[in-house]
Amino acid sequence: MKTNLYGVILAAGNGTRMKSCLPKVLHKVCGKELISYVIDCCEALKVGKTYIVTGNGSEQVKQFLNKYGNVETVLQKERLGSAHAFLQAKSKMKKLTGNVIVMCGDTPLITSSTIKKLVDYHIKNKNDATILSGFVGNPFGYGRIVRDMSGNVSSIVEEKSANEKEKSINEINSGIYCFNLKTVWKALDKVKPNNSKKEYYLTDVISILNKDGFKTDAFAICKEEEILGVNDRAQLACAGKILKERILSELMINGVTIEDPSSTYIYGNVKIAQDTVIKPNTFIEGDVKIGTGCVIGPDTSVINSEIKNNVSIKYSYIDSAVIEDNVKIGPFSHIRPGAVLKQKVKVGNFSEVKKSVVGEGSKVNHLSYIGDALVGKDVNIGAGTITCNYDGVSKYKTVLGDNVFVGSNTNLVAPVNIGKNVLIAAGSTITENVVKNKLVIARSRQIIKEKKNKKRG
Ligand code: UD1
Ligand code: CA
Repeated sequence: MKTNLYGVILAAGNGTRMKSCLPKVLHKVCGKELISYVIDCCEALKVGKTYIVTGNGSEQVKQFLNKYGNVETVLQKERLGSAHAFLQAKSKMKKLTGNVIVMCGDTPLITSSTIKKLVDYHIKNKNDATILSGFVGNPFGYGRIVRDMSGNVSSIVEEKSANEKEKSINEINSGIYCFNLKTVWKALDKVKPNNSKKEYYLTDVISILNKDGFKTDAFAICKEEEILGVNDRAQLACAGKILKERILSELMINGVTIEDPSSTYIYGNVKIAQDTVIKPNTFIEGDVKIGTGCVIGPDTSVINSEIKNNVSIKYSYIDSAVIEDNVKIGPFSHIRPGAVLKQKVKVGNFSEVKKSVVGEGSKVNHLSYIGDALVGKDVNIGAGTITCNYDGVSKYKTVLGDNVFVGSNTNLVAPVNIGKNVLIAAGSTITENVVKNKLVIARSRQIIKEKKNKKRG
């Protein structure tokens, strides 16, 4: 959008109230680390670069940030306050011109459209500093926006320094700002730790700029929830609930039925086509694509998988699999990474499929394990069939041709290859290949003897 726009994210704070070994900004909410939400906001605005000020747990935070191409970290060795944190980026940014958005790493509910409005307002009004503010019912704890007689913003007063009159102001500082890079560094240098916490407050930059004759302003958004900061785990859960509601309502608006939003959790890059129904207690996470006309749940997890159209999945766990049209899964199935279930496949009651292709129309309905297998079309896997794919050292492959009938309680000792139309008798342990069209029985013959003791054994 704007070419001369940069981001700074303040994420060095100690996060004491989280009571955690993990840095606060790496705590996950709705499947994503807190800091990712604000980085994504900056990326959505196409900033030139985002500078992230780290301190507490900086090594861990830096390692996490490796996956982002357009961010650079700046270390704040001592936590001397938010102005001091921002100032750490000066050496890397002093040659840049244009504007900078400054955000905190712990405000996951802020949206890029709100930030865009802030930046547009800042540029349109030729401001030197614009605070994103909000009118709230209870302003306690926030910095208050102080305006002069003509409504211009003259300063921000923190809760601890506010007098009674200032405390009654309900326009608060979100902790998100847009600054002109030409004027902000000089003002930051002038900030003094003149407060009870002896911290360099970023909020003091506003009165400094104002006194020096620069244009300070506030852009008020109406939605209080967007500026909710996460300081403890109760607020983490609160933010999670709001984020989840946003995801679910977007899906519902786009034609997905969610029977019970309160017990449905959908995170990540999830796409669901219209007329699919999500039943209660369902978790959908990661990169997931679900087609139209599916019924997912109840009590089902779908992770990093592609589910095509008219698929039914109940009481099951699907991870990293591809499920084609008209497949029926469950109740109580485990479809594991690398599984591909072709059209009209049925996998049911207590069956597990891993790294296997199950061909069109085949059935694995009861108590089976299919691993490292290539199963043809219209194969019937009898109850209790096991592919013995592992000898304790390596994994081996089982191949079943089209139309094979595997009798119940069969062991297929891999590597093994069964030709098409083969009928395997129930209870067989198959250790050798079988060519097409044969009947194979691999079990000992039943013998019946006279009992010695007429009553018992
Ligand atoms: C801050 C604002 C307050 C605003 C509120 C909104 C100041 C002085 N006050 O208060 O006006 O209403 O946010 O949520 O800024 N940080 C560092 N290094 C430090 C200190 C802080 O990186 O040395 C970072 C924190 O990680 C955090 C941000 O700066 O992301 C804000 O600091 P915090 O102590 O949480 O300020 P608040 O008391 O919430
Ligand atoms: Ca905070």
